[in-house]
Amino acid sequence: MSVSPEATQIGLDILRAGGNAVDAAVAMAFALAVTFPAAGNIGGGGFMMIYDPQSAQVYTVEYRETAPAAATYETLRGVTATSRGHKTVGVPGTVRGLELAHRRFGRLPWADLVRPAVRLAEEGIVVRAPLARSLNAILRHPDVSAEMRRVYGNNGRPWKPGDRLVQPDLAKTLEIIAREGADAFYEGPIAELIVREMKRGGGVLTAQDLARYRAHLRPPIRAVYRGFEIYGPPPPSSGGVVLAEMLHMLDGFDLDRRSRWSAETLHLLAEVMKRAYLDRARYLGDPDFVRIPLQRLLSRDYARSLAQSIRFDRATPAEELGKEILTNREGQHTTHFVVADSTGFAVSNTYTLQDSYGSLVVVRGGGFLLNNEMTDFNWTPGRTDASGNIGTPPNVLEPNKRMLSSQTPVIVLRDRKPYLLTGSPGGRTIINTSLQVTINVLAFQMSLREAVDAPRIHHQWMPDVIVYEGAERIEVVRPALERLGHQLRRVGRIGDAHSVLVDSVHRRFVGEADGRIEGAAAAF
Ligand code: DON
Repeated sequence: MSVSPEATQIGLDILRAGGNAVDAAVAMAFALAVTFPAAGNIGGGGFMMIYDPQSAQVYTVEYRETAPAAATYETLRGVTATSRGHKTVGVPGTVRGLELAHRRFGRLPWADLVRPAVRLAEEGIVVRAPLARSLNAILRHPDVSAEMRRVYGNNGRPWKPGDRLVQPDLAKTLEIIAREGADAFYEGPIAELIVREMKRGGGVLTAQDLARYRAHLRPPIRAVYRGFEIYGPPPPSSGGVVLAEMLHMLDGFDLDRRSRWSAETLHLLAEVMKRAYLDRARYLGDPDFVRIPLQRLLSRDYARSLAQSIRFDRATPAEELGKEILTNREGQHTTHFVVADSTGFAVSNTYTLQDSYGSLVVVRGGGFLLNNEMTDFNWTPGRTDASGNIGTPPNVLEPNKRMLSSQTPVIVLRDRKPYLLTGSPGGRTIINTSLQVTINVLAFQMSLREAVDAPRIHHQWMPDVIVYEGAERIEVVRPALERLGHQLRRVGRIGDAHSVLVDSVHRRFVGEADGRIEGAAAAF
């Protein structure tokens, strides 16, 4: 299940050829770098959750980007949370991450997993309406680099559905990765191209940064909700911890005794979101740099104490909750996919370039985009305000540090076996999308289709607003929520949550693509 029919097909081909879900996921990740350049990538990073049937354990392959050794607020002066360009590039993690997942869990030869993407890049893909729209929109951005225009610009003509996007430089790069492995990207010919590109554009990333980059196998975050085990990625993603806090708080309320679309349920969700996102700002960052009180944050007692402060007669003002860290009182693009196989492996992967098309820098001659993930650090250190600026210490920029993420690929286990796989793009909204798909299935017994389609809300502590997807079911309770003191703002869409439900009794997978962008499910 992914945003791209071609990538989904490649995943399926790999399973048919005897690969497991991890092989399929690696092949899909490379394919998405060709078919979905807004977020599919080799120049970005992410998190892959893997259920291994042999050990019955869930693992996280963490391949988050890292700040270059020379990156400081001083050397990156001028960068803000919305910047693009060479200075916003973090050391990419994707290729090392896919290598680690494959080395540890894969079955087919590495080259077989990269070659389908080589062919897509070489032969070209047919551009459908969503890609045409997305490319035409980004090509109007003032920071698009000359090389990006050459590679994605269609010779100056707007893209139309039916056009062909051929990527010969990317095909060459991927062929080198197929033949020589990840080292070619970090220490070989591709590293050289990246370093040259950085020098040309005034970036601070060096050959040494690439050579020293490592992906990690990290223990995931585990929550228990209604007897299910929910696994999400650990720091440097905030996803697992924030999701676990929210689920643990909700476990104290009989959610299914209320209507899913009552003002009371939506109020409760918003209150839970606020409290967990405040902790995100307070405590979370790169665990190699920051001491995070994980045990306490994940404990039942802590969730209970947070839940006790929720009132049903009024919204708690966000300012009241996080007084001590507020300094100013006035005051997309990622992609997610999932794969499950008949041998019991299950994979839930989210990876990204940060904003749509990342830094807008294409490596000259390499044919691939680099991320602008450096913008995920706190760019107003010392200043946290009502407009949503976060300046808290755990996620301040330091050399060689990983920036805090919200990516939340999720694996839910029932009786120690995969039951639900979900996740989403959407920046800070990601965690709340994963939460809502999860409770729609586990607490409200919705079918997976309903759970994915159901309208979503999002609260991130600051700004103190419930953002919601326009839907009759939410519009009708908006006045009641406003009476409780909530502010609401309607948006077009929140997230894109391709999901799988595993029916282990009937040995059957139910896959549902989220139609909010363009998705494809497939099985055999
Ligand atoms: O890791 C993160 O939290 C962000 N860089 C994700 C960005 C994102 O989802 C943008 N997309 N829609």
